[in-house]
Order: sequence, then C-alpha cells, then structure tokens
Amino acid sequence: MMAQLRAQRAPSAGPEGTATSASAEVRATTYLVRTEADASHARLAARMLCESLGGRGYECQKVATAVSELARNQISYAGGGTIQLAPQLAPKRLLRVSAEDSGQGIPDLERVLSGTYKSKTGMGLGLLGVKRLADRFDVRTGPTGTQVDFEVWL
Ligand SMILES: Nc1ncnc2c1ncn2[C@@H]1O[C@H](COP(=O)(O)OP(=O)(O)O)[C@@H](O)[C@H]1O
Ligand SMILES: [Mg+2]
Repeated sequence: MMAQLRAQRAPSAGPEGTATSASAEVRATTYLVRTEADASHARLAARMLCESLGGRGYECQKVATAVSELARNQISYAGGGTIQLAPQLAPKRLLRVSAEDSGQGIPDLERVLSGTYKSKTGMGLGLLGVKRLADRFDVRTGPTGTQVDFEVWL
C-alpha cells in the first residue's frame, strides 16, 4: 500500500498581468547519506546553499535542521539514502529538498503526521516538524522506499 500526503501553502498573489516565466533551476546536487558524517555534510551544504540564495539566517537554519532530520531518519530506519538539494531562482526563489531511500517505508504515516505518533527517542524535529516548517511538503512511502520532498520559499 502506498501512503501519500501533500500540503501546499496558498500561493501569494503575484503582480497582475505578469507572465509566468519558465522556471530557472540552477544546478541540483545529490548527497549520499550513509553515516552521521554524511548527514552533517548534507546539513551544512543545505545551509550554505540557502544562504547563497539570499535566505535569511533563521530560514537557512530551519532548512538545515529539516535536512538533518530526514538524513538521520534515512540512516536510522532505511539503511541510508540520498538527499538532493535543488535551488530555483524563478519564478520563485526557493530551495527544494528531495530525500529518497529504498527502505521498508514508514509504517504509519497518518499517525506520524497527525502528531499522535510518539517518537521512541523524543529527540529532534520529527517528520511532522519538517512538514510544519516547509512551504510545500510531500511524502510517498511504501514497502519499497520513502520519498520526502519539501520546499522552503526564500
Ligand atoms: N525514511 C524512513 N523509512 C522508514 N521509516 C521511517 C523513515 N522516516 C521515519 N520513519 C518512521 O517514522 C517514525 C517517525 O519518524 P520521526 O517523525 O522522524 O520521529 P522519530 O525519528 O523521532 O521516531 C520513525 O520512528 C520511523 O518508524
Ligand atoms: Mg526522526
């Protein structure tokens, strides 16, 4: 069974009559996540990329924390995975993060995202925390793996 969830912040109204330009995506980078050091590396890369896109310190800290959370979940529950960081400049300045793994999936996504799931460690942001800080959030999970995508609009 494939569980999925999508959430999106209501788009802000752009200037009237503005033509939607083709989206300008700058180079995306993919990080392999196997160890704690890899997770730290991905976290740092996310923060630096966010800052280079002009994100504010607080926003970039949030992005870094979310990347770290997803990387740690990959290590703890899926034997590792990959994290792709994809900056976009137009039509909207944002950083898109895609965390993918080939693990066994999240057993009860509904509960995790409703907040009724109680973490065994009680540490960290949790998937729900990532969802709360994201401007767009999307999870697909099933017996062959998990993909979490989120965007932060800068
Ligand atoms: N990538 C993943 N693959 C499989 N299961 C996952 C993954 N990420 C999270 N989970 C499951 O979802 C639960 C909730 O994750 P999370 O909200 O990060 O809280 P915590 O990691 O503290 O338990 C985890 O306990 C785990 O069972
Ligand atoms: Mg976690």
